[in-house]
Amino acid sequence: MYVSMKDMLLHAHDNNYAVMAINVVNMEQVKACIESAEEEKSAVILNVSPRQMKAHAYPYIIAPMVKNLAESAGVPIALNVDHGVNMEDITKAIQCGYSSVMVDASSYEFEENIRRVRAVVSLAHAKGISVEAELGHVGVAADADGENTDYYTNVAQAREFVERSGCDCLAVAVGTAHGSYPKDRIPKLDFDRLKELRKTINVPLVLHGGSGAGEENITRAVACGINKINVCTDLMNHAKTSLLRALEEEPGIQYMELNERVEESMKDFIKAYMRLIGSNNRYTFEKHTGPEFD
Ligand code: 13P
Repeated sequence: MYVSMKDMLLHAHDNNYAVMAINVVNMEQVKACIESAEEEKSAVILNVSPRQMKAHAYPYIIAPMVKNLAESAGVPIALNVDHGVNMEDITKAIQCGYSSVMVDASSYEFEENIRRVRAVVSLAHAKGISVEAELGHVGVAADADGENTDYYTNVAQAREFVERSGCDCLAVAVGTAHGSYPKDRIPKLDFDRLKELRKTINVPLVLHGGSGAGEENITRAVACGINKINVCTDLMNHAKTSLLRALEEEPGIQYMELNERVEESMKDFIKAYMRLIGSNNRYTFEKHTGPEFD
C-alpha cells in the first residue's frame, strides 16, 4: 500500500511503537526496505533529502519506483521528503508523486517556522500528503549539537506550534543529532522532556539522528512516546561494510550478485531494527500481486 505517513504514524501512536524512516538513494535500498517491511509485517517510511535528490536519487526515478513496489506490497509504505527546506524542492517531490513531506524550518524563529509549515500544509493536505515539521533543532553529531540544550524543543511552544501550524507529526530535539557521534560516545537523551512533550501534544513525535544512539536509548525513546525514528548513517555504513566484505571474500564476484548480497545484508539490519522499535507484526501481510518479474 502506498500511503502518506499520517495514518501509519497514528497507528504507531495509538499502539505505542515506532516506525523506521530510512534514507534511500537507490533501488537496492528501496527493495531492502519494502521487502523487510513485508517480511516483518511492518510499515516503513522511505526518506530522501533534497541533497540526495539532487545528487543521485532523482525524484522522477525514485517516486515511481517506490510507488510501484509499494502498491503491490501488503503493508503501508510512505515516501517522504527528508528536511525539505525550500518550497521548490518540496513542490517538485510532490509533483513526482511523493506521499509525504517534511518541511524543516527549524533554523528560523518560531513565527517564521509556523508560517513556512502552514504554507506547505495548505499545499500538501489538499492532495492527501502528510506534513512533518521540526521545532527546536536537531543538529550535527560531530559538532556536539545534541548536547546543546538551547536547541532542545520547548514544551510550552510545541503545543502552540502544532495547533497553529497544522503539521501531522513533529520532529523534536531531545539530545540526538545527525551523523556519526565521536568515537565511543553514546548521546544522553532528555527523556523527561520527551515525556512532557508526549503528554502535551497530540500528534506523533519524530526522533531524528537515530544512528549511533544505542539500543537502550532507542527503546526508551519509543517507550516515552517516539513514533518515527530516522536512520540514515547506520544503514549507509552497514551497506558499505557489507560491500567491502563481499569484495574481500570474493574478489571475482559479479556486479549483480554483489548488489544482491548488499541488499540482503541491509535487510538483516532493517528487520532487526523494526523488531527493536516494535513495528513488526502490526499488519496482516498480503502476498505481492505483482510485479511480473517477481
Ligand atoms: P542519522 O544519519 O544520524 O541516522 O540521521 C538521519 C536523520 O535524522 C535523517 O533525517
